[in-house]
Parts: sequence; C-alpha cells; structure tokens
Amino acid sequence: MSVLQSLGDAFAAHYGRAPRWIASAPGRLNLIGEHTDYNDGLVLPMAIEFRTAIAAAPNDSGRIALRSEAASEAAVIDLSEPLRPEAAGSWLNYPKGVLAGFVGAGYRPRGFDALITSTVPMGAGLSSSAALEAATATLLEAVCAVELDPVRKALLCQHAEHTYAGVPVGIMDPFICILGRRDQALLLDCRSRETQWLPFEDPEVTVLAINTNVKHRLAEGAYAERRRQCEAAARALGVRSLREADMEMLTRTAGLDELPRRRARHVITEIARTSQAARCLRERDWRALGQLIDESHESLRDDYGVSSPELDAVVEIARSVGPRGGVFGCRMTGGGFGGCAMALIATREAAAIMSGIGTEYRRRTGTAATMFVSRPAAGAQLSYA
Ligand code: GLA
Repeated sequence: MSVLQSLGDAFAAHYGRAPRWIASAPGRLNLIGEHTDYNDGLVLPMAIEFRTAIAAAPNDSGRIALRSEAASEAAVIDLSEPLRPEAAGSWLNYPKGVLAGFVGAGYRPRGFDALITSTVPMGAGLSSSAALEAATATLLEAVCAVELDPVRKALLCQHAEHTYAGVPVGIMDPFICILGRRDQALLLDCRSRETQWLPFEDPEVTVLAINTNVKHRLAEGAYAERRRQCEAAARALGVRSLREADMEMLTRTAGLDELPRRRARHVITEIARTSQAARCLRERDWRALGQLIDESHESLRDDYGVSSPELDAVVEIARSVGPRGGVFGCRMTGGGFGGCAMALIATREAAAIMSGIGTEYRRRTGTAATMFVSRPAAGAQLSYA
C-alpha cells in the first residue's frame, strides 16, 4: 500500500487536491507457455508484486491531463478531438489506445487529471505495457461508472496494443494483469479462453526473476515475424492454428521449409510442456516442473530463435547450480531478445543463488543483473481515495 499512499501524496503535490480514484495493475511473469498465446495455445503466467498505479480526480473539463513519474512532460488529451496514436515508441500510446477502446465502445469519459507511477521494470519482459493498459482500463471503468466483463476488458487492452502501440501481441498479458490472483498461477487456454487457477503457495519454492538488463532492438519486428511464420506453418499443415497441429503431422508434411518447421515444433512441444507443467504444479513436483522449464528454454533458443547471449548466459549459470543447490529450472521469459529469465528455486537458497548468479553474470558479460523473487499477486484493482 505504501506505493499507493505516496502516489496519493504526489498527486496532491502536482494537482493541488487529493485523488478520487487509484487504479493499479501488476506486471506478470510467465512460468511456461511462451509464444503460444497467438497460436491458440496454453500459457501459465502469474501476476507479480510490482504494479503500475494511476491516481486520478475529475477536473470538470473536457480534457484529460496525464503525467507519468517516469516521463518529464505531461500530456493533455482533448476529448472533443478525434483520438489518434502518438509517434511509435511513445508511452502515451498505451493509455490513449485504451481510452480509444472505451470511446469506440460508446463510453463518454469526463475530463480528469491523472498521475501514473510504476514499480514494474520497463523493457524487461514483465509486461509493463499491459500493466499500464490494465490500470488505465480499470481507471476508465471508474470514470465512466461501468464495470466491463474482465474478458472484454482484456481484449480491449490487447486491441489498444495492436492499434496504438503497433505490436500484434496475444492475449496472455492483459488476461493475467487483469485477472491475477494471490498465490495462484493461471492456466489459460487461449483458444477457448477457459481459465484454471492453480495454487502456487508452497513457501518452500519461489520464482526468481533475473533481469539481464539488456534489451535488443530486434525485439518488436521479430515478434511480428514469428507470428507470421507460425501462421504460414499452420497454413502449410492445413490447420487453423498450430494448436490443432501435432508432431506426427509435422513429420509427415513434406514441403515445409526448415525455419517454419522449427517454429512450429517449438509451439507444438511448448503447448504439451505447458499442459504437463500444470500437472506438476498441482502435484508440487518441482523437479519435473524445473525440467520442463529447462526444455522450454532450449526450444525457445534453438527452434524459436528468441533468446539472446545474455539470457543464455543467465540460464547456463543458474542451471550449473542445479536442484541440489536449489535451482530446479531456468529459462528466458516473455517475448525474448533480452529482458528477464526466470528460475524456479528453493526459497531458503534464494540469497545464495542471487549472489552466485550476480557475480558470475557480471564476470561473463560486464553487466549487472537485477533480481527479485515474487509470489503470485492480485490483478487489477480500484480503490477510492
Ligand atoms: C509478449 C506478448 C505476449 C506473448 C509473449 C510471448 O509478452 O505480449 O502476448 O506472446 O510475448 O509468450
């Protein structure tokens, strides 16, 4: 609550009055099921304890004033003008895209002043963008006095990312940022949108995020390219999406080039691993879950081509500790090309593991990694100040 309390104070300092609402949403960490969401597959993310929060109060005008503690200039959106995306790369595209979704759905928000703050590391593969979108959507629900069905709300955030930020993301991030639950991971079927909540509350096991602090520029173009390659592979296999494909189908289909074949192999095997991982989580079989996490990394690195030398270094270092030293498994997490790796670890070894990885990663790369442990946290929330 302290971040929210200090945000209320910062809002008062900027705008000269107390906020009426504080909306917040968490970042997320995906345990397994990477690059499967836009293939109608399975994903297994959890919300993390870092959040993006927006404090706001009505301003009796037709304008929205937005300030972010992470950006120097404030933005003003005139609600009587048609909404348009900002230049590519602007943080404003996330809240603006969500606002456009509300306006497009027929809601008429009144003007308000808002101040945004975030503890979600940016560009780390922890979904700081979906956290901002989900927090914005939660605030706009309060402003428009409406409560959207959570699935509709998540799809609205996804649409904002497609149309305003220009990235053809899947549904995983907005779903978990909105729906997240304490001490539970979400098994989401991205085809049926069925959700299953899996308890993840064993105090002896925790998730460690290791930020390589390296982000490669390749990321966004490569994401869209992977998506196209999967669609092409599905067409060649004669299925609607790679969810309908299996390894047998892949083996017997001639005329599929090596690259789309490898992309498809990642997706098919990753969906199978995710379903097995859900079972391991239910059975608290940490060693088996760790093994699947390790295999996921290999597949993302070799077949899907979305790892990076720094991510591979972290994974190699963490794995050299092994289950006896408390590391059950480690892999890159999120879109890839930099950002974070995640490791499933024994809680009691956390300090030793972090220190060992930190020293060795710096020795190998010359860069300092940042690390944190997180338990599954709650999704988007609104409070009235
Ligand atoms: C990004 C996207 C998600 C998902 C992951 C990869 O985080 O936003 O939709 O595709 O990459 O699993």
